Amino acid sequence: MNVKIFDLERDHHEIKGELIRIFEEVLSRGEYILGPEVKALEEAFAQYIGVKYAIGVNNGTDAIRIGGFSLGLTKGDKVVTTPNTYIASAMAFSTHGVTPCFCDIEADTYNMDPGCLEDLLKNEKGIKVCVPVHLYGHAARMDEIAEICGRYGVKILEDACQAHGATYKGRKVGGLGDAATFSFYPTKNLGCYGDGGIIVTDSDIVYDEAMKLRNYGQGKDRHVHLIDGFNSRLDEVQAAFLKYKLRFLDGWNNKRRALAAVYTKALADTPVVLPQEASWTHHVYHLFVIRSDKRDELRTYLAEKGITALIHYPTPIHLQKVYEHLGYKAGSFPIAEKAAQEILSLPMYPSLREDEVLYVCDAIRAFYGK
Ligand SMILES: Cc1ncc(COP(=O)(O)O)c(C=O)c1O
Repeated sequence: MNVKIFDLERDHHEIKGELIRIFEEVLSRGEYILGPEVKALEEAFAQYIGVKYAIGVNNGTDAIRIGGFSLGLTKGDKVVTTPNTYIASAMAFSTHGVTPCFCDIEADTYNMDPGCLEDLLKNEKGIKVCVPVHLYGHAARMDEIAEICGRYGVKILEDACQAHGATYKGRKVGGLGDAATFSFYPTKNLGCYGDGGIIVTDSDIVYDEAMKLRNYGQGKDRHVHLIDGFNSRLDEVQAAFLKYKLRFLDGWNNKRRALAAVYTKALADTPVVLPQEASWTHHVYHLFVIRSDKRDELRTYLAEKGITALIHYPTPIHLQKVYEHLGYKAGSFPIAEKAAQEILSLPMYPSLREDEVLYVCDAIRAFYGK
């Protein structure tokens, strides 16, 4: 048996006919960028998250960058995020003169450790925005983070790029900070068929700024440019696909959760460390990430059995060459660094079958002689 890490073709099989119909409809309308489909998606997504506004942009990285600048970041400022996220959480800023700082994570949730955040904010001046990442689909400790950021006058931009539909204490992630960002990269829990992203916020000011920034700094009047901006406009075709797919998101997330339960049960008596779902979150398992101190051997063994497993992410951001100049060293963030050596993402997507999950589990059990 071959089990892929993702299978987008299979995920979309059931809705393929409707996607083609939607494509033809948008094609025949002749309006392809920032039109009625983008507006309708923005309204539907804002309502889904439970916030006032959503602003569609080119990708999740742009959502983070534009979100940050809409919160008042300027060149020379600093932001803080975690070192074990996708590079975009930091590079969205560093390409535009904003320095990323990092703080360590909790070993069980892989998310920002509020104690480490507090230590950093106490010692490092110039941090204006905190970017907690709801990694793998599990919400970060937002109450503690908000309380600390509040005391230091730091704004919060949630990176919810992996957590569409996840909740924190019953509230959707994305509505917990000053603004939040989502990616619609094809493999995300809500993905499109190219690049796409969205910023959400309750703030009139952030909304106005983001609307300008995504479209060359243009205000309400065409060809009147008020501030420096970007070209980061969402396509009509992607927006129409996403608006249609949004109705399936909770169901697909529930399928992910059901598959996670199958993995958890079948691997319970093995030495692998399973993902935890803290009491405050509804985990949406963008990724199902286990830990093993024999990670690389296990990964090779699974590959021999036809199973693809990946590492998200093998090198913590502070140890990437691009950030050498920031002066971090091996040992700067021991929890994130240890996790990077042990984590392994197993196949996880809504159309993955239970027998395939059990095949993966059998292989892991066999690896451990179980
Ligand atoms: C946590 C996180 N932040 C940011 C991004 C960037 O999103 P995009 O690839 O759409 O630019 C991603 C996805 O790739 C992500 O997983």
